[in-house]
This record gives sequence, C-alpha cells and structure tokens, in this order.
Amino acid sequence: MLSNTQSETNATDLAYHLHSQTNPQALSREGAYIVVKGDGTHVIDENGKRYIDAMAGLWCASLGFNNQRLGRAAATQYEELGYYHSFYGRTNPKAANLSKKLVELTGMAGGKTFFVTSGSEANETMVKLAWLYHASRGKPTKRKIIARDRAFHGSTIVAGSMCGLEMMHREFGLPLPGFIHTLCPNNYRVRLPGESEAEFVSRLAGELERMILREGPDTIAAFIAEPVIAGGGIIPPPAGYFEAVQKVLAKYDILCLDDEVVCGFGRTGNWFGRETVGMTPDMMSLAKGITSSYFPLAAVVVSPKILEAVERYNESGTSFGHGFTNAAHPVGAAVAAETIAIYEELDIVPHVRKIGARLHQKLAEVTKDSPIVGNLRGVGLMYGVELVEDPSTGTPFAPARQIGARLAAIAYENGLVVRAMRDTVGFCPPLIIDDNDVEEIGAKLQKALRETEKAVQAKSI
Ligand SMILES: Cc1ncc(COP(=O)(O)O)c(C=O)c1O
Repeated sequence: MLSNTQSETNATDLAYHLHSQTNPQALSREGAYIVVKGDGTHVIDENGKRYIDAMAGLWCASLGFNNQRLGRAAATQYEELGYYHSFYGRTNPKAANLSKKLVELTGMAGGKTFFVTSGSEANETMVKLAWLYHASRGKPTKRKIIARDRAFHGSTIVAGSMCGLEMMHREFGLPLPGFIHTLCPNNYRVRLPGESEAEFVSRLAGELERMILREGPDTIAAFIAEPVIAGGGIIPPPAGYFEAVQKVLAKYDILCLDDEVVCGFGRTGNWFGRETVGMTPDMMSLAKGITSSYFPLAAVVVSPKILEAVERYNESGTSFGHGFTNAAHPVGAAVAAETIAIYEELDIVPHVRKIGARLHQKLAEVTKDSPIVGNLRGVGLMYGVELVEDPSTGTPFAPARQIGARLAAIAYENGLVVRAMRDTVGFCPPLIIDDNDVEEIGAKLQKALRETEKAVQAKSI
C-alpha cells in the first residue's frame, strides 16, 4: 500500500504537509501515496507502478492526467497575460469569451457568469446571491438554506454547513444556524420497504414542505442540491424527484441552487446533471470538469432574475461587494476554453453515455454474485457499489470494520484507484476512458472484491 516510506519525498511530506481528509495516525504509519506522473487515464507512483485512476483524482480530471493541449493553452496564455483581475469592471478576452460560452452551454438564457476559484467559493457565492436576491425584493428575513443529508458542497464555513455529512461538521461546531437538512433521496437506504418510487418522491416532497412550514416560509432563501449526490455515496434521485421538489420551492418563493461541481461537463451523460434529473435551477455552480482541474477556476452561472436583483440592489451607485483576487484568471479561462473545445471535439456526451453503459455493465457483471454487494447505482460515468453484510436484507457492515476502505486499499495494491464513501465504493473515471480501461477496471475490481470477500468470510476484517 505504501509508495515508499523510505523515500525523501515521503519523509519531507510526513514532516511538513498537513493533508486534507486524511487520518494523521494512518498517514504517519503508512506513508503517503506519491504520484509523480500522469499517462492518460493512469497515474504512476515513485516506483514506476501504474494505477488506473477510476476516480479521476477527485472526480475532476475528466481529460486524464497529462493532456498536452491543456498544458500548451496555459503556457501560451502565461506568455501573453499571466494575470489580471475582474474587480472595478476589469476583464480580459479569455474570461469574457468563457463567460459567454458558459451561459450558452448551461442554457441560462439572459444570464451571466461570475468567476471564482473553487467549488466551495462557487457554492458560497450562490448563498450570498440568494440572500441579496430576497433582500433586494424587500424580503431580508429569507435567509435559511435547506440542503440534504449526505450532500457534499465543500469545506468553507457556509459550504461545510450545507454538507449533510457529520465528518464535515464535528470538530468545527457546524452547521451554522440557519443551515438545515432534509431527507436524502436514496432509493436504497431511505425508501421504505413496500414504498413505490412515486410514493417515496411524494414523501420526500411532503417532508420538505413540512420543514418549510415549520421553519416559516418567510425565513427560507434557497434549497441547494447536487443533481446526483457524489461524495455522500453516489446517489441518483428517484424519478420525478426534482419536479416534485421544485413545485414545493416555487410555492414558497424559495430559490433552487444547482451544485454542478461534480455533475457538470458531461459526467452524468448530459452536459449538466440538471438535464439528467430534470432540475430547473436559478443558479448553477461549476468547477472541477470546467478545466479538468488543470487550473483552479470555478464559476456560478446566474439566471436573469438574480442579475436584476444585483442591479436593483446597487442602483444608488454602490458596487456588488463580493469577489476573489484570482477569479476570471486569464490562464484559467484559457485552460477552461481549451477543455471545453476538447469535450466538443470528442463529442463527450454521447461518448460518456456509451462508455458509461459499458462500465455499468462491467460493474454489474463483476458484482452480481458477490455475497457482500447490496446495491449498484449511478448514471453516466458515476457509479457506486455499496458493500453490505447481507445483500438479501441490505444490513450494513458495522462501520468500525471499514470494509469499503479495506476494499479500496486492496484495489490500490492491485493498481486501481477507487474511493470508499463509508461502504460505498465509487467509480468516477476520466471521461476519456475507453473499452480497455473498462476491462482493466473490471478485472482489478474483481480481484479486489474476491480478496475482500475472503477477508470478510475469514473474519480477518
Ligand atoms: C458536489 C461538490 N460541491 C462542491 C465541492 C467543493 O469543491 P472545492 O473542493 O473545489 O471547493 C465538491 C468537492 O469535491 C463537490 O464534490
């Protein structure tokens, strides 16, 4: 599992690098995983060992790990204009053109793009704009945000508050007051025995409405959702979910915020996840796939009614008081434009549908007779395999056994990178995967799964 605990990089890293989402004790015991090179859909460690990264890093490297065109786009732009900002009406041609392209791609007709540098900032920006929107209409008490259990929206204080994951709250005293969570639309875990999908949807919408009435509709600003929950365990909503939810939101003048940080740019088999799940948002946050994560650029695309609110709010001559030094970065914008051009040249949406169907079929084949697989779910190129103690009842493993993490570790030893979210193992590979990659993922998963099953049977984990 170790890259090389003796290596100089590891020693330096252990001594000086405080890692995100990492157990400090395990890190000092086992050392870091050191990646030194990318080769398309694969990464290579210090010892020359190759891994197929079936998580595209952090659901982001859609064009793989060493796309030369993106490198050249960045280099050319660095030589021309290596930085400029977007405060006080400043812009640059790359950012201006990208803002237009994003409005067109997202279908937010009459809207505009606001640039930021991360998914968390994009989501925080949507919250501030939701507050501004209601305040500009004489409804300043509409401030609460409804998110969902198992959601992931980022790590800054507001984004973390919107997460529906205990690990994002525990040591920080989050969520902040005013950030509340409704049920997760999980067909496998939250839908009741004997409940039809349609009954489940109407229960979810009913719960949401009761929450709004309990809190007071005049206190609620917005509802935020990922079209398909990613980090919470890859959870596609039941059919008709967003239609039912949006009816409730419209009734109480509540905005719908679409977190497309993972689902955007082809991941779900449409340009944006909202098309896959039938969501009509007021704002969309974009990150990750926008540059295939070759540059920390992110954005919010807003609808005309939000724009009007910004204008109305500042009609006395004040300025919109929000923004970031490195937003609308010319190099980031050049990399994003090139990334999108490549998606278009590859005709990425039909490719994702086709190769995603193959990956799904392969995962189904490998997992179908497993005594520890309870559920395979997902869409496009986002799949989750949930490991359970008893597939016939869905009884989960005791969390302390960390079966999902164990499978991910065994897979890693076998040259396959996957992610364990509790006991759901996630697959979210670069969008450019081909048939050979699917075969490789399938073969390596099969090996890891069989080893995990043996360890479970032998009660060694
Ligand atoms: C759905 C979703 N939203 C927001 C974020 C936060 O993005 P960032 O890490 O760029 O702040 C993530 C990160 O994984 C995410 O998965």
